Amino acid sequence: MEKTKIALVTGGSSGIGFAIACELAAKGFSILLISNQAEQLETCKAEIESRFSVTCFILDIDLSATTAAQQVFDYCVEHQLEIEVLVNNAGMLIFSEVVQTPTKRLETILQLHMNTPTMLCRLFGAQMKERKSGSILNVSSISSVMPYPGISLYGPTKTYMRYFTRALRSEMKEHGVNVSCLLPGATETALYDPNRINLKLAKRLGVMQTAEYVARKAVKTIYRKKAECVPGIINKLTIWFMPIIPTFIIELINRRAKLLDKGQKSLG
Ligand SMILES: NC(=O)c1ccc[n+]([C@@H]2O[C@H](COP(=O)([O-])OP(=O)(O)OC[C@H]3O[C@@H](n4cnc5c(N)ncnc54)[C@H](OP(=O)(O)O)[C@@H]3O)[C@@H](O)[C@H]2O)c1
Repeated sequence: MEKTKIALVTGGSSGIGFAIACELAAKGFSILLISNQAEQLETCKAEIESRFSVTCFILDIDLSATTAAQQVFDYCVEHQLEIEVLVNNAGMLIFSEVVQTPTKRLETILQLHMNTPTMLCRLFGAQMKERKSGSILNVSSISSVMPYPGISLYGPTKTYMRYFTRALRSEMKEHGVNVSCLLPGATETALYDPNRINLKLAKRLGVMQTAEYVARKAVKTIYRKKAECVPGIINKLTIWFMPIIPTFIIELINRRAKLLDKGQKSLG
């Protein structure tokens, strides 16, 4: 049986991941959508298959489990799915003090943002190297330059993703495999609670983008084999400007604006 060429998108059942899956499906890729939302995955599969006339496979799995990457890889081997594009997109936002956050929750974000995507790059990257073709897109964030209170794990795990991607890109270049990093700014997705943030206003002010816009930029980045993509001019400026703000100013803003609830708030 001939292997089907597939774009694998983690966290593909909503937000930026689903929008990237649609962009890739529009380019003719069959899709493997992965998340831990069985019902939502079925809905997404139906939408992709009816809109783009491609096959959409779905896999309901907790990507924060230590064995998740190997399970995904085994599923692909078993179903003869050749992964041509790997998009490590699944993520979560914890907004709380580290010492207020249940330890299990901390383990989950570390696993989800670092270990699982790294292992997926290892497993599928080796196949791509052998074939001398393929693309990997890792989703970081402009928060990668923001080691700020309240997002003490979110920002730094995204920093890991950014620098890991850069190094992997250099390793894989000579093997004909492209590796890119997407660094979105605020994007209208389930990551934000509309009761806490005025999404309409944020979009009107240009500080928040749609998932579809970010996905178009992401897929262009894959096709152009660019190292990094920061969608939107405000985000491009932010990524330069934020690192030079002194820590005491951040702490002052945090205290004044009471940005950080002392209890746990986890979104997404
Ligand atoms: N939105 C933004 O402003 C923004 C900015 C910068 C970077 N990003 C990054 O962009 C990526 C996509 O986020 P998004 O904004 O599109 O949020 P989203 O709509 O919440 O999408 C996140 C996806 O990851 C999945 N996921 C979360 N935990 C999982 C787990 N343990 N196992 C399997 N799947 C899991 C989610 O499934 P569930 O439905 O189960 O949660 C969902 O499909 C994330 O890496 C995020 O950090 C987002």
